[in-house]
Amino acid sequence: VTDAARFDRAYFDRWYRDPRHRVHSPGERARRVALVVAATEAVLGRPLRRVLDVGAGEGHWQPILARLRPRARYRGLDPSAYAVARFGARRGIRLGGFDDLRAAGRRPYDLVVCSGFLNYLPAPRLRAGLSALRALIGGVAYLELFTAADELSGDHATMDRRSAATYRRWLGTAGLVPLGLHCWAPRAVATGLAELERAGA
Ligand SMILES: C[S@@+](CC[C@H](N)C(=O)[O-])C[C@H]1O[C@@H](n2cnc3c(N)ncnc32)[C@H](O)[C@@H]1O
Repeated sequence: VTDAARFDRAYFDRWYRDPRHRVHSPGERARRVALVVAATEAVLGRPLRRVLDVGAGEGHWQPILARLRPRARYRGLDPSAYAVARFGARRGIRLGGFDDLRAAGRRPYDLVVCSGFLNYLPAPRLRAGLSALRALIGGVAYLELFTAADELSGDHATMDRRSAATYRRWLGTAGLVPLGLHCWAPRAVATGLAELERAGA
């Protein structure tokens, strides 16, 4: 279900703030952001400057990124009217989404983040969105996708989960090469890496 109205305040209270339900602790999230920043900078060979967070929700990545890289620019997109009204001005989040990237502009970003929502999209929207997103990925994309083999906690009843081979094929068709740990790079960027820096290459 990707109905934007579902992602209201009660949703974020339940899955982000209630310790009985929340999927990530603040420490886990901070470690994940640090990993992705380091991976992007290793691939680009320079500090991170521009980040696009698609499906940013309340923008939980923004304060962590701002602490790690105060000079980097952050743009969040989310279809949730609640999230944009409450956090939009403070964290730089605009209305938009995976299927509507207009508010991202046309210039590629060093890092594109898609965390916590790709598995909720029906396959045709996921595949179309990946191919549209590709032009905005100048360095690394953090694409959080879970397969049918992953053991999950949290809000996973409505997830569409395919095999790893299927996702690798779809992402490959969109021009992306796996780097591991949910990080992907456009083929042209990945050619600058050593062969074994790429996962399964
Ligand atoms: C579990 S939250 C993840 C929020 C954030 N990315 C994070 O990791 O904390 C899921 C978010 O996906 C957003 N969402 C739902 N459908 C979407 C779509 N088609 N494109 C982009 N975001 C979408 C929801 O509004 C919600 O904010």
